[in-house]
Amino acid sequence: MSIELDHIILDVDDAEASSSFYADILGFGCEGEEGPFTVVRVSEGLTLQLSPRGTAGGVHLAFAMSRPEFDRVFSRVRAAGIPYGDAFDRVGTQTGPGEETGARGPGRTLYFLDPNRHLLEIRHHEREGGAARGETSAVGPLTVADFERLAHARLPRPAWDYYRSGADDEVTLARNTEAFASYEIRYRALVDVSAPRLATSVLGTPVKTPILVAPTAYHKLACPEGERATARAASRAGSLYVASTLATTTLEDVASACEAPRWFQLYVHKDRAFTTRLVERAKAAGYVAIALTCDTPVLGRRLADVRNGFGLTEGLALANLQEILPPDLRSGPGSELARFVASRHDASLSWKDLDWLVALAAPLPVVVKGIVRGDDAVRALDHGARAVWVSNHGGRQLDLAPATIDALVEVVAAVGDRAEVYVDGGVRSGTHALVALGLGARAVFVGRPVLWGLAADGEEGARSVLALLTEELDRAMRLAGCAELADTRHVVRRRG
Ligand code: FNR
Ligand code: LAC
Repeated sequence: MSIELDHIILDVDDAEASSSFYADILGFGCEGEEGPFTVVRVSEGLTLQLSPRGTAGGVHLAFAMSRPEFDRVFSRVRAAGIPYGDAFDRVGTQTGPGEETGARGPGRTLYFLDPNRHLLEIRHHEREGGAARGETSAVGPLTVADFERLAHARLPRPAWDYYRSGADDEVTLARNTEAFASYEIRYRALVDVSAPRLATSVLGTPVKTPILVAPTAYHKLACPEGERATARAASRAGSLYVASTLATTTLEDVASACEAPRWFQLYVHKDRAFTTRLVERAKAAGYVAIALTCDTPVLGRRLADVRNGFGLTEGLALANLQEILPPDLRSGPGSELARFVASRHDASLSWKDLDWLVALAAPLPVVVKGIVRGDDAVRALDHGARAVWVSNHGGRQLDLAPATIDALVEVVAAVGDRAEVYVDGGVRSGTHALVALGLGARAVFVGRPVLWGLAADGEEGARSVLALLTEELDRAMRLAGCAELADTRHVVRRRG
């Protein structure tokens, strides 16, 4: 790839990374250190290296950064009278994951191009323990964590931060996964596990795996096909797809993407007429259940989003909500999403509104998502919900909420045989899924793992993550002596 470049912005976290980036850039056929580079440190951790126009070599490169950060840097560039190329104007609008162009030096380098294939960004990953950070072993990603590393390497920083973040100190984010270690699987021996059966059903909808796709927003940040790719991946994996209200693809377009069984996740707006229209649209588009998210009266504070001034990048939109988007949505401090939720979501929502929604959604069943208490689970059923979804929004809402796997135990005990109970939060392996099933979940939902797959390799990546988790669950069931999903109830217990 021949690249005519004449500017650099390196967002480096430390001197080491800086020198390795610098070495890499120099390796770009640029001239030596005393060559055409001018190093201008415009802020702690940000180094601006420039080559005057017209020299042989040099690199114009801009990390995708938050708008406020870029504006700050750019104003210094202008104030210093430093020449700059038109690519600066496109900073932050890069699309799609990086293209791998082979390793340079000890790690691997990803080059991010804008739609005109102008280089926007280079990311160089030092080799850590035999593989460059973000790189997986030669046999490809083997775990959800491998997919996460690939996603981290390929996503622009603001998108990565948005997908990864939890609320505030991220205690609950960590707890969700860590809590699985409090449980053990007392496996049974000498059980015929030659063909474990993983197929099940949720609210009467058959699925080939109990690993289902939780609703997450903004899939087009991960790949251009966005939620259509995710829905197709769910379909190919024999899973179920839950489409988010806050998708970057309309619920109708998601429905037309594939035949995957699908639910529609609903946020209730203050504007009940608009909310009613959303539910009617979901019914008309063939969604078979409504998942009411009850844990988001306001958005949790995701600190990276606030620092990044996070918002949807140019060209992307809240596709289901076009008719009601506030005109000034994109202007303002902090997280654009937090401003939107504050302006639109109905924080007065209470149990009487569940009665209203159950009547509105009929004949579609309503699932209440975001429950962590047994008494709330019972009230949800008393007000007409057909199932309970134990969730703390992936630790993104109220920090210090209980880990969902712990909350599941209380909810299952309270609900008994009245209804199906699902759980999400921190499920990162098939053994996690087995523990959840063993504690009484009918099925488990995953959020971030699917996003990692989407960012790593689009539809195929998302499908691979679901297939990987299903295969891990299959293996765990065989090793646990479980031929049926119900058998898991007899082997899981809390440690100690
Ligand atoms: C979410 N989640 C979420 N939930 C919901 O009801 N509507 C939504 O639009 C979103 N959006 C969203 C975006 C991102 C980036 C994440 C990570 C999560 C919460 C999601 O449905 C689920 O509860 C958690 O993601 C489950 O935790 P894990 O699997 O991500 O650990
Ligand atoms: C979130 C919202 C979209 O967690 O639910 O980002």
